[in-house]
Amino acid sequence: PERAVAAMARQAPANLEELNAVIASTPPFVAGGTCAVLGEGPLNPRLALVGEQPGDQEDEAGRPFVGPAGQLLMKALGEAGLTREAVYLTNAVKHFKFVQRGKRRLHQKPTAGEVKHYRWWLEKELDFVRPRLVVALGGTAALALTGKALAVTRERGPHRLGAHDGYVTFHPSYLLRLPDEAARREAYAALVADLATAKALAA
Ligand code: URA
Repeated sequence: PERAVAAMARQAPANLEELNAVIASTPPFVAGGTCAVLGEGPLNPRLALVGEQPGDQEDEAGRPFVGPAGQLLMKALGEAGLTREAVYLTNAVKHFKFVQRGKRRLHQKPTAGEVKHYRWWLEKELDFVRPRLVVALGGTAALALTGKALAVTRERGPHRLGAHDGYVTFHPSYLLRLPDEAARREAYAALVADLATAKALAA
């Protein structure tokens, strides 16, 4: 892994396109992942949203946030006065990590070590994209950006995230997993409020 990181650093991509070519042609650091799901969105956006990793549908489509979590995120973005096109969307880990169970591909949480292997790409990517504010969706994104674990429920809000002004909020998948309807509504309202605050902070 250290050698892989050094090899990537030597490739020294000069822009986002070159970086994406490197990412797309490097085999996954996690088990699974048929293709790298690259970030998408405008350069110099107000906000860059960083998720955990592509899911089953993102892996199929080769695009971030198009599955159930993505649809919930788009709804929340809309309620916060934002659009998919206005923000840059990417993930801490660029491949879908899964185990096959019959026909189903079950999402596996990336380990801290795996997240670390992808950090160099994420940092480079954000250097090229130059958002005003980086929004970490969930703990994995925060870990990728800071190198430290963070309890999202207790530490939501503005944070310095590595080299970036940032904001930490829930991951939409976390909302989908909450068993209780009232808790889900509350967490969704918090996500919308956080996105609106992040938008204002980046204005
Ligand atoms: N969850 C993520 O973190 N990213 C995606 O792209 C989709 C779901």
